[in-house]
Amino acid sequence: MAGTAGAGAERPREAGDGRDLGERRERGELLFERWRTTAAARVTCLLERRFERMRQGASPEVSRLIDAMEWTLAGGGKRLRPLLALAASHASCGDERPGIPAALAVELMHTYSLIHDDLPDLDDDAVRRGRPTVHARFGPALAILAGDALQSLAFEILAEASRQPGGAECAARACMILAQSAGAQGMVGGQAEDLAFEGSAPSEGERSAMARRKTGELIAASLLTGASLAGLGPAGLSRLGMAGRAAGEAFQIRDDLLNLEGDPGLMGKAAGSDARRGKASLVGCLGPEGARRRLEELSAEAERLISPFRSPRLERLLRALVSRSS
Ligand code: IPE
Ligand code: IPE
Ligand code: MG
Ligand code: MG
Repeated sequence: MAGTAGAGAERPREAGDGRDLGERRERGELLFERWRTTAAARVTCLLERRFERMRQGASPEVSRLIDAMEWTLAGGGKRLRPLLALAASHASCGDERPGIPAALAVELMHTYSLIHDDLPDLDDDAVRRGRPTVHARFGPALAILAGDALQSLAFEILAEASRQPGGAECAARACMILAQSAGAQGMVGGQAEDLAFEGSAPSEGERSAMARRKTGELIAASLLTGASLAGLGPAGLSRLGMAGRAAGEAFQIRDDLLNLEGDPGLMGKAAGSDARRGKASLVGCLGPEGARRRLEELSAEAERLISPFRSPRLERLLRALVSRSS
């Protein structure tokens, strides 16, 4: 009897716990989505204000350049890199505000990379974020210059973080991280490999390194610049960097899968173009199923690496990064 009573007494509690857990998860998801929307809108608003200031007193020619710089930014975009910078700042010091300059800088850097990536001599794409690409709208020369100026603006904003009390060292570190991730050893180097590999059959290792460079480095830098401005030390930064590179490679695999089988309407850019151009992606060499498995492995590795930060926001964001459909 006692055993029965005991089991009977426990059963409602277990059911209750299950319900609580489910409710807590649902509530966590809701709060995350709310944060994501608000934070992305805040980044957009801060960037708009910055451009408004730049326009003051600008000549007609410079105004036209600023139009070109804002064109792709105003098209939307998921703002994932700024969200990573803010979440990393929050995970490092409990406050996302120190990471704001990093959030703006990485979105500007990313947008410059997209504008140049779409140019006729690179991927030659006509649609980005649901609108004509910058070169299609303003011509290739202004698209090149718009990208150049977006990159300079990214560093200007990041360097301004040195004005925060005690911020000089953190800002200098963040500038160095962004420069290294975006340059020849990182994003631009990866873009050079991406172009050189077109129509050829590089090894799986070469494709993986290319994906890490062209995309993973800036994803990692988004986390690292946000965390640097929040004062995170070298051990934490090293862990975060490894997580970012793994998540970044997974992110590029998702992008390549979407190029193969995604919905151009949802993505706001073309599908099927990688095959047409003979792009040497990991999907091409592992096949879609193999690529999906690799993506899961990389995603699990990133989750394991960030687990010591105990940041549900960062964990959810990394999951959203690799499971996206646009
Ligand atoms: C697309 O990046 C380009 C890659 C580096 C794979 P996103 O998917 O983050 O593009 P937006 O910012 O949402 O437009
Ligand atoms: C973009 O890679 C990488 C950079 C812009 C650095 P892709 O060329 O694969 O991305 P999409 O598909 O044009 O967005
Ligand atoms: Mg490309
Ligand atoms: Mg492209």
